[in-house]
Amino acid sequence: MHGPALREFYDREYHFGEDVDRPNPERLWRAVRELEPLAGTTLLDLGCGVGWATRLAAARGRVRDAVGLDFSRTALHAAATTGPANGTAGAPDGAPARITWVCGDGTALPFSAGTFDRAFSFGSMEHFPDVAAGFRELARVLRPGAIAVTVVPNFYVRTAQPVEHRDTESGWRRLITGAGLEVVRVRADPGPAIFKNRRPLRIMLRVGLRLLGLVPAFRYQFIFVMRKP
Ligand SMILES: C[S@@+](CC[C@H](N)C(=O)[O-])C[C@H]1O[C@@H](n2cnc3c(N)ncnc32)[C@H](O)[C@@H]1O
Repeated sequence: MHGPALREFYDREYHFGEDVDRPNPERLWRAVRELEPLAGTTLLDLGCGVGWATRLAAARGRVRDAVGLDFSRTALHAAATTGPANGTAGAPDGAPARITWVCGDGTALPFSAGTFDRAFSFGSMEHFPDVAAGFRELARVLRPGAIAVTVVPNFYVRTAQPVEHRDTESGWRRLITGAGLEVVRVRADPGPAIFKNRRPLRIMLRVGLRLLGLVPAFRYQFIFVMRKP
């Protein structure tokens, strides 16, 4: 699936409503905080969905300017209408920052080279139809010395989304370095909260995945911290 059909899937079928209702700020913050120091920076949240990480970076990380980009208008509508003061939700210690929501394609970003000090992307780049182009674009819009974090799944993780790039840690590394970025470190994301919902089979599956993720080669998702040379 490509282009308009792919966007249509996210606009009409994806569970953005559930994402609005059930945020997991602590899981997100574990990854966002890898971008510290954040205060006063300009940050891109690539494939921001309903914008929880964008708001978290603004409120808890105190970035100066946060840009949430997604190609789904449904996601951006939810992002723009979720949370008090449109931008400080999700973090009780929130302080207002400038947040801009941009509709755009992650493989052809509408920003000049060297625009951002920080970039973040959670569970999105693996769904781009051209993942290598996504990393090249990410590298292009970062200024030299800038830091980025992308959270991407291990090869065995499946979701119901139509495009899914599956890779091992070394496969993801190759994509990142091939785009001209350095890998600074890799951390583990343990996956969704065990009690994300009350469906017994889902709960058992999540417990199983947690146990599997204790084996380094089977981490659920990778938190790649990258630097633009
Ligand atoms: C699994 S959701 C993750 C959303 C959000 N980062 C989160 O953590 O909840 C994937 C997101 O990637 C977006 N996306 C997929 N392909 C895209 C593309 N080519 N350009 C921009 N956004 C894209 C989707 O619209 C969706 O919001």
